[in-house]
Amino acid sequence: MAKVPVTFTLNDAETGVFVDPAENLLEALRRKGGDLSPKYGCGQGTCGACTVMVDGAPVLGCLTLAQTANGKRIDTTRGLSGGPDLHALQQCFMEGFAAQCGFCSPGMLVAAKALLDKNPRPTREDVTEAISGNLCRCTGYQPIVDAILEAANRLNGRTV
Ligand code: FES
Ligand code: FES
Repeated sequence: MAKVPVTFTLNDAETGVFVDPAENLLEALRRKGGDLSPKYGCGQGTCGACTVMVDGAPVLGCLTLAQTANGKRIDTTRGLSGGPDLHALQQCFMEGFAAQCGFCSPGMLVAAKALLDKNPRPTREDVTEAISGNLCRCTGYQPIVDAILEAANRLNGRTV
């Protein structure tokens, strides 16, 4: 089957790949875009490990056709901080032991970033809702929710 050319901005880098018409965005990013930060967990839309942002909205890479990303902006955990330092979310995940095995962390971080971009002062309920599609088998979720709230505080210049 003929490959389809797709171009997008991946974490500030203009990126072009050729994809199969039925290829999903997760495969295209990992195998052709050189970004291994979105994870393959279930491949069926249930775990959230493959979460990336497309034009600012969190989507499941395993359920998104790669060719629908043509001309769009894609953000992944790899580009979260935009520089050599950790993003506040990454820093707070690390300090708060919000990552144990870490497999869910890329998806969690992207889901959290999408939330804070839209809602810089979320409630605990907002955070819980925002990560409700992301499964974690290790942490019990509370350290993750706490880390996201702490990151929101830091980004807002608050210390509590
Ligand atoms: S790999 Fe996409 S939701 Fe699990
Ligand atoms: S830290 Fe292991 S799945 Fe979340």
